Amino acid sequence: MSSPRFLLGFLLFIACLLNLISVNSDGKQTALFVFGDSVYDPGNNNYLNISIQDKAVYWPYGETFFGFPTGRFCDGRIIPDFIAMDAKLPLWKPYLEPGSQQFTNGANFAASGAGVLPETNPGLINLRLQLSFFKKVASQLRQELGEEEGKKMLMEAVYLFSIGGNDITYFAGNYPNATESEQEQFLQVVIGNLTEVIKEIYEMGGRKLAFQNVGPMGCLPLAKQVNGISGDECVESLSEMARQLNNALLKAAQVLENQLEGFKYSVFDYYTSLYDIIKNPSKYGFQVADVACCGYGSNNASHCGIEPYYVCNNPSEYVFFDGAHPCESANILFAELLWNGEPEITKPYNMKQLFELDSDYPSGTLYSIMNRGQTGGSLINFPTL
Ligand SMILES: *[C@@H]1O[C@H](CO)[C@@H](O)[C@H](O)[C@H]1NC(C)=O
Ligand SMILES: *[C@@H]1O[C@H](CO)[C@@H](O)[C@H](O)[C@H]1NC(C)=O
Ligand SMILES: *[C@@H]1O[C@H](CO)[C@@H](O)[C@H](O)[C@H]1NC(C)=O
Ligand SMILES: *[C@@H]1O[C@H](CO)[C@@H](O)[C@H](O)[C@H]1NC(C)=O
Repeated sequence: MSSPRFLLGFLLFIACLLNLISVNSDGKQTALFVFGDSVYDPGNNNYLNISIQDKAVYWPYGETFFGFPTGRFCDGRIIPDFIAMDAKLPLWKPYLEPGSQQFTNGANFAASGAGVLPETNPGLINLRLQLSFFKKVASQLRQELGEEEGKKMLMEAVYLFSIGGNDITYFAGNYPNATESEQEQFLQVVIGNLTEVIKEIYEMGGRKLAFQNVGPMGCLPLAKQVNGISGDECVESLSEMARQLNNALLKAAQVLENQLEGFKYSVFDYYTSLYDIIKNPSKYGFQVADVACCGYGSNNASHCGIEPYYVCNNPSEYVFFDGAHPCESANILFAELLWNGEPEITKPYNMKQLFELDSDYPSGTLYSIMNRGQTGGSLINFPTL
């Protein structure tokens, strides 16, 4: 057990005990709606008739925390699980899990393989489809709570996204000879479609939106393995595309803030934080960053759980559990930065601050603005990434 991470876990535990419950001005719990891909999927793909490779429904997925596979592409919990804990919300049930569900705490629509664009992995649950699920939930809530209360609840809620990585994989795979301007055009199409979805959520009441940007895709063990790269090197073209998408996302969020009254956002720089962990694993208590804990091939990076494959003895020594997804021990670090990070890494608000913002106030008079600094991360001092 690495002592820095153990200490962090302990501090997180204390932080949870001390944390104020995130409630609205009228005492109701603030809901969280989650959209995205495998980084955030709590098991929605389990309920699709798709290839086993797109569902993490087999051992050793889930081995560290749940003791059985849940559909999460991880040995344990994923980032939205920790965010739900921070926000005092229950553990995610996949939205698609059969049976009647209460959505007063929100819902998680994220689905592995999802892209912003429908042409990315057709047959999986792209962002538009996730939006259509949200619309159903929103109308159910307005019926249950009444039009007024329902709208208020949707306005107070926080909306969290992790999407775009699969669109990059799709483009790089299908257009290997694309020119720079074709690539730029494609990224504009991705951001254009994402912006449309954001605007629809805003029209339905959404005011507080959080985004985890796309990671350094060329440094994922699977990307290295597919491209025959080992050690420290990364597939620069993929990472470059991720950086361009992330820049465009930040710009789009800033534009939306100016266009839409009361729109508040948070962007967590997952790219930078994951990249720093990959480059300096020992700084964070990890030993291996270029090879996955579970899988097969030159970087043990493909088909974790499908024979033949290897699995490591101690996932917490590895940054990556499978070829594309971090271990739970890394997800703890990311969730802390998303929830409570300093503005260098999560800006302009972190998620804790978004939860505390009161959407009922006209923009500019949000009480929590005055509390910034006091509410942001004084308990845990994170190394600057
Ligand atoms: C699931 O997909 C397979 C292959 O596409 C198909 O043969 C089968 O009928 C489908 N099952 C259901 C329940 O839709
Ligand atoms: C990309 O270019 C290479 C040679 O430069 C060529 O062999 C290949 O067929 C091209 N791929 C596509 C999808 O056009
Ligand atoms: C959305 O994506 C489609 C391709 O799926 C594209 O034709 C369209 O122009 C995009 N919309 C925007 C606003 O960029
Ligand atoms: C893959 O995993 C096996 C079993 O843990 C290990 O022996 C092997 O060294 C790993 N491959 C690499 C490239 O580290």
